[in-house]
Amino acid sequence: MTHLSTSDEGADHGEQTERRWAAVAVAILVLLVVMATFAALYHGAMPQSRVETADPRTLHLGGEFIESNLGSALEPDGTVTVRFIGQQYSFTPSCILVPTDTPVTFRVTSADVVHGFLIDGTNINLMLVPGYISSLGARFETPGERLMPCHEFCSVGHEGMWGRIKIIDKAAFSRMAAERRRLSCVE
Ligand code: CUA
Repeated sequence: MTHLSTSDEGADHGEQTERRWAAVAVAILVLLVVMATFAALYHGAMPQSRVETADPRTLHLGGEFIESNLGSALEPDGTVTVRFIGQQYSFTPSCILVPTDTPVTFRVTSADVVHGFLIDGTNINLMLVPGYISSLGARFETPGERLMPCHEFCSVGHEGMWGRIKIIDKAAFSRMAAERRRLSCVE
């Protein structure tokens, strides 16, 4: 009889442990929901301080995203501004040229639907929304070439929508910029 009661106690103990762990799991879940709610409310209550728009129907006719203004521009203050457009199913220009050790600002928009722009192996990641200009600052330390896939599903050609970014030495970039107003690495 003694033996039987001991095994009963063992079963009770096991059940208790199980309940305790279940409680921990529920607590973690509740915490995550609270964090998600907080993040949603906090960001929802604080919209972007500056929203810039660009009419997708007239991008090619004039303004910042006219074709002759696309690519990388060396600014008088030594920084670089890169302007490009995403459209089904490519980026224009399809190869972005940037220098090392220089503050780079990307200014991007979409000519049709929502696209994504990310640079492989970096935390650079933007959503391109028609009607709006997405802007992001970056800096590249090492020369090289990286892929730039579209990461938002934008219909049947999505898988084939990608570009490249080529990071070259700052001095070489400056020399090229002295000869051409807008640079890219499209061949
Ligand atoms: Cu553009 Cu997916």
